[in-house]
Amino acid sequence: MTATPVLRVAGVTKWYHVPTALTSKFSSKTPGSLRALDGVDLQLNKGEILALVGESGSGKSTLAKILVGSTKPTSGELEYDGEHITGARHKDSSRRIQMVFQDPYSSLNPRMSVGDMLKELLLLHKIVRRREVRAESIRLLNMVGLEEDALDAYPSQFSGGQRQRIAIARAIAVRPDILIADEPVSALDVSVQATILELFTSLQRELGLSILFVAHNLAVVQHLSQRVAVMYLGRIVEVADTAEIFSNPRHPYTRALIDSIPRMSAESVNASFVLDGEPPSPFDVPSGCRFNPRCPYATDACRTTDPALESIAPGHLSACIRASELPILPLVPKANAVNQQGSL
Ligand SMILES: Nc1ncnc2c1ncn2[C@@H]1O[C@H](COP(=O)(O)OP(=O)(O)O)[C@@H](O)[C@H]1O
Ligand SMILES: [Mg+2]
Repeated sequence: MTATPVLRVAGVTKWYHVPTALTSKFSSKTPGSLRALDGVDLQLNKGEILALVGESGSGKSTLAKILVGSTKPTSGELEYDGEHITGARHKDSSRRIQMVFQDPYSSLNPRMSVGDMLKELLLLHKIVRRREVRAESIRLLNMVGLEEDALDAYPSQFSGGQRQRIAIARAIAVRPDILIADEPVSALDVSVQATILELFTSLQRELGLSILFVAHNLAVVQHLSQRVAVMYLGRIVEVADTAEIFSNPRHPYTRALIDSIPRMSAESVNASFVLDGEPPSPFDVPSGCRFNPRCPYATDACRTTDPALESIAPGHLSACIRASELPILPLVPKANAVNQQGSL
């Protein structure tokens, strides 16, 4: 099956300019500019769930905001349904790409009942006629696993998981093609997380949605996504099908993320090394490969060559100059690990 891209970014950068006084302690090189995104290439295919995974601060939310149009990139290209998006978005293209946030409480108006909130959206975007609003609202609530009686309730009356369901109902109310979900389960109890992940799977299946699902933890997306993109310090460093990422990771950072999943470490096929707790600051991106200061496989070449994200097998991209050697490189002995104490 050939994949059809619905959303594509190429060479996207986002630099934040921060007052020099604040940056001087971080960097002497380019005071004032923080490279939140530093040349991102990625495509979301029609009908897939693509996971975007990386440590906190790697630029995931910045990329999510650029995709929904709430932040402008510093440079780079954005394509939606094969067309370049430049400048302000057409009202219809912003309707078709909806966002779900980590904290549903801050994204829901506490003074509006669920019914009023859905009604406002359905009428504003002319999704249904006024007399059909109630039936459509109930249909949306049922689709996210809530009952009709939620219509008259306010956000504060729900649990965290239920509030996330309401936020999802609101996002799908306007019949988008694409959902960008920015860590939508990170704030929820583990027992609730699984039920919300199932909801995303059923929405993908029933509505044919294309979903970019952001997470800081690979374990969350293992049974959810069809593909995984791994982000490190403002770049995508590996992309592959989910099963391939777990069984045949071709970037040392991806290996470290997999090995940081506790329940997998016993059967891990990867070199077990533990990452230093903090990634470098995006004020001062390391030269060469940006991962080299934390990488147990780094060679001299890695300290001078900034590797591009390149195809190493069909559908599998890696930004590591040693990608082809990784499966045969010996495991890193625990004693030589980068930092035994650190964790992700
Ligand atoms: N509005 C902003 N102004 C300045 N720096 C920002 C802003 N938003 C994000 N950043 C910085 O950009 C980097 C990436 O942040 P973010 O996209 O939120 O990462 P993630 O979602 O992966 O945790 C971080 O270093 C963060 O501090
Ligand atoms: Mg974030």
